[in-house]
Amino acid sequence: MATALLDMPTPTQPAPTPDDNPASPAASPHLASRISLFDRIVLTGFMGSGKTTAGRLLARTLHWAFLDLDREIEAREGRSVPQIFAESGEAHFRRLEARTLAALLGRRNVVIALGGGAPEELGNRLLLEQTPRTAVIHLAAPLELLLERCRVQSLRPDATARPVLADLETATRRYIHRLPLYNRLATHTIHTATHNPTTTVQAILTALST
Ligand code: S3P
Repeated sequence: MATALLDMPTPTQPAPTPDDNPASPAASPHLASRISLFDRIVLTGFMGSGKTTAGRLLARTLHWAFLDLDREIEAREGRSVPQIFAESGEAHFRRLEARTLAALLGRRNVVIALGGGAPEELGNRLLLEQTPRTAVIHLAAPLELLLERCRVQSLRPDATARPVLADLETATRRYIHRLPLYNRLATHTIHTATHNPTTTVQAILTALST
């Protein structure tokens, strides 16, 4: 169901604590030793792939910090992403994105959610590939499902507008251009169409432990 990935745990549906979770490093010495090979886990994928939701949950499971690239850019700039696009243009946003990514990759024990367009820049891809002890996870899903999730997300009261989703044709063109870039960049790909956030995190941990 398209909305399942978007559902953050509610008070009546508590997220599993790391120690209740069979895929948690606390429950598996093997997983803990595999995760210790990494200083950071970066989530990539198109808009609507669930990078932020899964990233937050993954960070909580690992007792790591969670950083969302878009939110970091906004905090540094004092402006929202749509404002930056409208006032300064996409090229300027991409420069801020590259600079902020470089700064975040200096952190250890972090899960970082990229914006969907970050891997389009060659410099960002090289930086990610050349940063040691960094796993890059592609959260993949069919375009129709990604767009449906974006549509559902845009109805939320706390929704952040996505300037590059203005029309279907442009979004499709960007997706087709980016898909091979996500796949080449990723050390691991998780197909999320049949997952919810909890099982996505379990799939990431399983992929990292094999
Ligand atoms: C963008 C994706 C957005 C944000 C900006 C541009 C893109 O992030 O960085 O609106 O070019 O795909 P999310 O993928 O988190 O929505």
